[in-house]
Amino acid sequence: MRLQIRPLLAGLAALALSAGIAAAQNFPTKPITMLIPFAAGGPTDVVGRLIGEHMSRTLGQPVIIENAVGAAGTLAGQRLMAGASDGHTILIGHTGTHAAAVSLNPNLRYRPVEDFAHIGLVNTNPIFVNVRKDHPANTLRELVTWLKANQATANNAHAGVGSVSHTTCLLFHSVIGVKVAGIPYRGTAPAMNDLVGGKVDYLCDQGVNVAPQTRAATIKTLAIAQDQRAALLPDVPTSTEAGVPDFKVIVWNAMFTHKDAPPAAIEKLNGALRAALNDATLKAKLTEIGAEIPTAEQQTPNGLRAFIASEIARWTPIIQAAGVRIE
Ligand code: MLT
Repeated sequence: MRLQIRPLLAGLAALALSAGIAAAQNFPTKPITMLIPFAAGGPTDVVGRLIGEHMSRTLGQPVIIENAVGAAGTLAGQRLMAGASDGHTILIGHTGTHAAAVSLNPNLRYRPVEDFAHIGLVNTNPIFVNVRKDHPANTLRELVTWLKANQATANNAHAGVGSVSHTTCLLFHSVIGVKVAGIPYRGTAPAMNDLVGGKVDYLCDQGVNVAPQTRAATIKTLAIAQDQRAALLPDVPTSTEAGVPDFKVIVWNAMFTHKDAPPAAIEKLNGALRAALNDATLKAKLTEIGAEIPTAEQQTPNGLRAFIASEIARWTPIIQAAGVRIE
């Protein structure tokens, strides 16, 4: 009996394996779901939609955006891990969800390096410090002075503890020596609405969300947290020019899929991401909204994995020095 079952099982296993290989080679066989960890209309959403639209053309299947908001963006990562491993679900994570969260959140339910398949780095973004338009501060130095006098009552909007807007303002606070309670939102799209509405005092945010409001003078943008001014908002001084040279930070978005996704699916997703990032029209659009294209190495799965590990190492001492932890 055993002699007959063995070849049968071996045959079935071989059949299943070849069916699996064929499915992976035909990937994608249905629409791709792109999980965005923050609210629609915000920085992650805008970049994700642009990239997703281009990838859908390369892959021959729609890329459907799902704003899976919660737990400062980490819920989307949990969703990806718990879902199907066929590569049809992808996630746009960022500096907050896949680097800073590691040291901020002792209960983080995933390990950004080990628990995902890495597809590639998508873009980097500059960070700007912004105040409501009727705020008394007109320069970064004036905001520092104001914060030192008003830290107990100041309202700092952010997209949840561990988000980019939270961690970058945290860095700003640590550099200037203040502690301010934040007001969490589901993303910086709604946080920006309240800054424009004058309901909160200030917000550290990515250029794509900031520039339209700065140009319309519905907010005041006091500095960009880097050494060079950005073409996006050339009149905004650098943090060095504005007197806080130690406040420098660049944030990024990156693409992931399920850890056990078939290698052929990862390869196709990566090919579609690289096609998007190297398309002249899309590149121009991304540059126009202030996003920068990563290096060729960072656009690969291995390059992203190494980058994420280096970013976790970079953010851990910053978060520890700021003495903040989500409990
Ligand atoms: C967003 O898309 O709303 C932002 O990336 C949130 C954040 O500040 O991390």
